[in-house]
Amino acid sequence: MRPTQAPYPAGRLRRLRSSAPLRAMVRETRLSVEDLIWPVFLCAGEGQQQEIASMPGVVRRSVDLTVEAAAEAADLGIPAICLFPYTDPDLKTEGCEEAWNPGNLTNRAIRAIKAQVPEIAVMTDIALDPYNSNGHDGIVVDGQIVNDETVEALVKMALAQAAAGADILGPSDMMDGRIGAIRKALEAAGHRNVTIMSYAAKYASAFYGPFRDAVGATGALKGDKKTYQMDPANSDEAMRLIERDLSEGADMVMVKPGMAYLDICRRVKETFGAPTFAYQVSGEYAMLEAAARNGWLDGDAVMQESLLAFKRAGCDGILTYYAPRVARLMKAG
Ligand code: PBG
Repeated sequence: MRPTQAPYPAGRLRRLRSSAPLRAMVRETRLSVEDLIWPVFLCAGEGQQQEIASMPGVVRRSVDLTVEAAAEAADLGIPAICLFPYTDPDLKTEGCEEAWNPGNLTNRAIRAIKAQVPEIAVMTDIALDPYNSNGHDGIVVDGQIVNDETVEALVKMALAQAAAGADILGPSDMMDGRIGAIRKALEAAGHRNVTIMSYAAKYASAFYGPFRDAVGATGALKGDKKTYQMDPANSDEAMRLIERDLSEGADMVMVKPGMAYLDICRRVKETFGAPTFAYQVSGEYAMLEAAARNGWLDGDAVMQESLLAFKRAGCDGILTYYAPRVARLMKAG
C-alpha cells in the first residue's frame, strides 16, 4: 500500500529536485552506452559512403568503411552493431536467392567485422525485403505472401549468417513459425550459441518510410505489409506473439517502432521479464532530426530524452541510429 502523501509543508516534493546531486541520487533510470545497438546500412564497393536523403546524418557504407565504423563503435563501448544491406536492383529476384548467398553484402560484412573487430557483437536482419523484386519480407505467389515457403527461405538465410559468424539473428519478417524453424536448424548445424532477437511485436507502421529508402525497397514495394505486420491498434496480440516467439526459442524480443509503442514495451517487460528491446526506427530519427536541423528542437536534448524514455518504459536496450552520437555525448559527460 502506498502511504498517504504527507500534507504541505512536509510534502514539499521539490526538495529532491532542488540540486543536481540530489536529482542524481534519486534518479530511477539511466541510459548507458551498453544499452545501445547501432543499426548501419551497407553498400557495395570500396571507400564508398552514400547519404540517405530522408535520414540526414546517416550513411550507407561499403564493407571496408563499415569495419572502421564498427571499430569506432567498439571504442565508444557500444556492444552491438546491426547490419542492413542496400542490394543492387539487379540482384533482386522473386525467389530472393541472394538472401542466402554466402558472399552477399551482409555475410561479407559479418566476416570482415568478426575478423577485425571481434569485440563487437554483430546482429543481422532476417527478412527477404532487400532481395525481393517486389519489396516484401516474404515470397509472393499470386499476390499472396506465402508463409511456409518464406520460412524455408528464412532458415537458409539464417544459416548463411550464422556460418559467417553473426552473434545475434534478428528475424523481422513476421511470418509464423520462423523462430522455431530457425532455432531447430541452428541446433542441427551446431550453432548452439547463436542468439535470436525476435522482432516479435512489429507493427505495420508508416514510421519505416526512410528505412525503405535506405535499403532501396521504396520503389519496389507493391502494396503494404498489413497481412503480416501487426495492426497498430492491438496490444493483446503483441503479448500472444511474444509468448509464442519465446516458446519457440527466441532469447530476446523486440518492440518496433519505439516511441509510439512504449505502452507495449512496458507490458512486454512486466508480463514476460525476458530481455526486451525497442527499435527507435528510421521515421522517429527523421522526425527528431528534421526538427533539430530546423532549429525547432534542441537535437541533443531530445535525442537523450527519447532514449531515456525507453529505459523508463522497461526496455533493456534500444536499437537507435543515434548510438554513436549519444555515446560520444555521454562520454564527454
Ligand atoms: C525489414 C525491416 C524494416 C525495418 C527493419 N527491418 C522495414 C520494414 O519492415 O518495412 C525498419 C527499420 C527502420 O525503419 O528503421 N523487414
